[in-house]
Formats: sequence, structure tokens, C-alpha cells
Amino acid sequence: MQHLFYPADNLAGLRLLTQRGITVDLVYIDPPFATNNEFLVDTDRANTISASGRLAYSDTTLGSEYLDALRLRLLAIRKVMSPTGSIYVHIDINMEHHVRFLMDKVFGPRNFRNSITRIKSNPKNFDRYSYGNIKDTILFYSVSPSRITWNPQRTPLSEDDLKRLYPRVDADGRRYTTTPLHAPGITRDGPTGQRWRGVRPPRGRHWRYPPERLQELDDAGLIHWSATGNPRKINYADQTKGKMPQDVWEYKDPQRPLYPTEKNAAMIERVILTSSNPGDTVLDCYAGSGTTLVEAAKLGRRFIGMDDAPESHRVIRTRMEDIGLAPKTEGDFTLFEIAPSDRQSTLGCNHPQNPNSEPRPVSHNAIHPSPFHATISA
Ligand SMILES: C[S@@+](CC[C@H](N)C(=O)[O-])C[C@H]1O[C@@H](n2cnc3c(N)ncnc32)[C@H](O)[C@@H]1O
Repeated sequence: MQHLFYPADNLAGLRLLTQRGITVDLVYIDPPFATNNEFLVDTDRANTISASGRLAYSDTTLGSEYLDALRLRLLAIRKVMSPTGSIYVHIDINMEHHVRFLMDKVFGPRNFRNSITRIKSNPKNFDRYSYGNIKDTILFYSVSPSRITWNPQRTPLSEDDLKRLYPRVDADGRRYTTTPLHAPGITRDGPTGQRWRGVRPPRGRHWRYPPERLQELDDAGLIHWSATGNPRKINYADQTKGKMPQDVWEYKDPQRPLYPTEKNAAMIERVILTSSNPGDTVLDCYAGSGTTLVEAAKLGRRFIGMDDAPESHRVIRTRMEDIGLAPKTEGDFTLFEIAPSDRQSTLGCNHPQNPNSEPRPVSHNAIHPSPFHATISA
């Protein structure tokens, strides 16, 4: 599988994808949040507040200029998305309402799926007339309101959940609960409206299953008969598929990130598993440390990454090496593919496929040269 990386301004990169007819199935982006900060990296760690260190990226475009820039990129992203595609936009509490407005404009309000609250940190002691801020937001939209790649990732029940939701224990020690065998609605002529084993469904309701299925359940010992002769279905805790995912997620970011604002890898893994299939293409055009790209590759998806910061390129190159992917420059892009073992040792700024390249700045972020030497035509 060949992955793509564009080491410069994503607007140009997205337009190149359109020109080449490349489409993507899932987008996760975590753009700058208009914080008016410069994000720095020290020798061994990344942070936001240090006065020293190398520049990772600047987040100093503010107000309407910020929103205009983001709008253009959202429009360009929308153009390359497949008809069953989804997009997740990570944003903070100061910008979320502005960005949701933009998303409604670009994707349409009926394609709004969720505003996911992400618990990002531990509770803070904060007493400047407001509550501690421990959350940010992920806006989830789709291209179509009905044709959407959707593989919800259930989570296992906790011990407390098991006790609360499955309060009974049978003679074999198995936890279970019971649920009604009837549902609202009347079926006058059909078999689910008739007596079964001498019992009628309650007024205004019908049996959930036809009589043959009810009999099968009873024969399998999966019906509990109350003292008054009311049948209910037995559901065992050990057969539950787990909890359906909800719109509040707790995924704290790494304590010692490789790159400022690096996001939690398990959170990205969840997004990718839920909203794409193996072999699909995942785009992150604000790639930063490449968390999305690494998780996509690990999960058998093809990635397309973009970032204009040389520090991001450095971190991404190292993370790709760690998962056995080697870079190769091809036109404006860097390709990543499985490294043949005999080439592994040659990875780096001066690897043989790039003998003549002079590192050159690619954007306002490019104070330190990028290890990717693509010829940027944009
Ligand atoms: C918040 S960080 C992304 C962090 C990433 N999610 C991670 O887990 O490491 C935002 C990134 O967007 C990049 N960026 C900002 N504007 C860009 C642009 N116009 N084109 C390409 N990259 C851009 C910055 O260089 C920065 O690396």
C-alpha cells in the first residue's frame, strides 16, 4: 500500500488531489485553534508555554482571516470526499460554534452527525470566575445523510454496569436480565397479534416474534415465566456485545508528546475503526506528529497526510520508520511504503533517492528545514 504525504500548505495539496482524481473515505483534522500561540519543541519534549525551543508551528492567524482560511480548506476537503465519507473536525471551546457554522455551510446541516465532547484533561483548579475547562469538541459530519460507513465500536461493560444492567443470577451463576417479549402496535390478523401458549399480548401491543420463534426461545430456556404467567426474554450478561458508543469520550492526550497538541492515538483509532473499512483512504491535512497517519497505516488503511511545518515532517519521518514505512519523493508528494529491509539503514535527510535536494522553507512555519525535499509547485 502506498501512502501519500504533502509537505506544504494543505490548500495546494488538496487541489492536487482533486486534479489527480484522488478521493478519500475518512477525514480527521485537528487544525490550529486560533490561540495566538507559537508552539515550541525542546530537545526532548513539546510544549506550548516554554519561551525557548524550536518552533513547531505558529497558531497566530485569528478572527475572520482564520475562518476564511479554514472555510477554503473545508471546501477543498469536501471535493475529495467519497459519497459514503465522513469528516471529524477537532476544535476547542472558543472556536467550536464558528467552525460548526462553517461545517453546516460546507456539508449541510442534515449531514451533521454529532458534536462529540472530548474529555481532554484531569480536573483543574481554576477560579477565575469560570469552571475548569477539561473538554474540547469533535464535530462529526458525513457527505450523505444515509449512505455512511459506520462500524460503531462497542465498549465492554464495567463491573458496576454489569451489576446494574444484569441484576439477576441464575442457578449456574450467570448474570442476566429480562426484557418484554412484546412491542407497541397492534397486529390484528398476523400471528404476532394472537394468543401464544394461552397468553395474549397486552392491549395495544403485539409479540416481538412469531409463535415458532417464541417456542424456540422457550425450548432453549431463554424465556422467564413470572409467577403470574407473564413471559419475558432472558438476556445474559456474557452474551452482550458491550455498550454502544455515546457522544462523550474520555481520551487524554499524551503527557510527554513528541509534538505540541499531539492527540490521543486510541481516540483516533476509534474514529478510524468506526468510520472506515480496511483498504479505505484516510486524510489528515493538519497532520502534526502524524498520529492519524500512524493509526491509519496500522489499521490497514491508506493514509494521505499534509502539513507545512518542518518539525512535523521530522516527527512523522521518525514515526513512520518506527512502523516500517520508508519515504520516497515523487513529484510534490512524499510516498511512504513498506521499507525493504536492505534500505532501512539509508532513511533520513540524505537518503540516496534525494541526493541533490537542498532543504528549503515551505511556509511561514519553515524556520527549520524540512527533511522532506519534495518540489513544491504551489
Ligand atoms: C494542532 S496541530 C495537529 C496535531 C496532530 N493532530 C497530532 O496528533 O499531532 C496542527 C497542525 O496543522 C499544521 N498546519 C497549520 N496550517 C496548515 C496549512 N495551511 N497547511 C498544512 N499544515 C498546516 C501545523 O503545522 C500543525 O502541525
